[in-house]
Amino acid sequence: MTRRRRWRRRRAADPPSATAALDPRVRAQLEHHLARGAPSGWFDAAYRLCRDEGVGLPWLHAAPHPYLLDWLAQPLTTPPGPRAVVVGCGLGDDAQAVAEAGYEVTAFDVAPTAVTWAAERAPAVARWRTADLLALPEDLQGAFDLVVEVHTVPWLPGVVRDAAMAAVGGLARAGGVVVAITLLAGQQADLTTDQGPPWPQAPSELATYRTAELVRVALEHPGPAAGPVFEARLTFQRPHGTPPRGGGLPLAPAPHT
Ligand SMILES: C[S@@+](CC[C@H](N)C(=O)[O-])C[C@H]1O[C@@H](n2cnc3c(N)ncnc32)[C@H](O)[C@@H]1O
Repeated sequence: MTRRRRWRRRRAADPPSATAALDPRVRAQLEHHLARGAPSGWFDAAYRLCRDEGVGLPWLHAAPHPYLLDWLAQPLTTPPGPRAVVVGCGLGDDAQAVAEAGYEVTAFDVAPTAVTWAAERAPAVARWRTADLLALPEDLQGAFDLVVEVHTVPWLPGVVRDAAMAAVGGLARAGGVVVAITLLAGQQADLTTDQGPPWPQAPSELATYRTAELVRVALEHPGPAAGPVFEARLTFQRPHGTPPRGGGLPLAPAPHT
């Protein structure tokens, strides 16, 4: 069965569109925290509004990201061991998928409410932790064979993005593999009028991953037909492991931003 056909089948079961605007109460929290220089501070308030008042959050799909499922089924390069970490794990659907693929999973998020909720949903699948990617505890650094990051970086403002990408890469041990799913801005995108978050990443930004000494194995995306802004899957590896491969396959658009 081809990669494209499998995605098409999954798409029928995908959750509803994730493009809904942020609820005004969530946006008020975002603006409050951004104005105070706390770019990740609003997420816990958002999860509390979701849990306590039923406010929808556009990134919650109650399902793993289809590009991650595809990667786990057919890894582009094999991680050197079983230890995996999921960054910005939210309610834990991606962590569950990584655990089901056979990894020993640590999953962390800056929002304690999300971590508690994720642990309630699936207590046994991961070591659930509250931790800040921008101030990583020492025991997490360089500790993992597989690092998974799905839509955390594009939800952070530009001022901390370099630090965030470097921290994602810094979780991988030598030979470790990083899989990052993000939103990319194509040439037609007008970033000056973008009302993020998410704030799509310019392809030039991705060079920052090199500061964590990562080598790019693949950059996969559906291509210009998907529109000015599209999801992309990046695979990196720290040197001294499986030799990186060039290229990468075209991805079908995933209704999961
Ligand atoms: C847009 S949500 C995506 C959640 C999840 N990865 C998914 O795809 O459903 C971004 C997540 O990153 C978390 N986050 C934001 N800043 C963070 C930081 N500095 N450290 C760890 N997690 C962070 C948020 O709490 C939120 O759960």
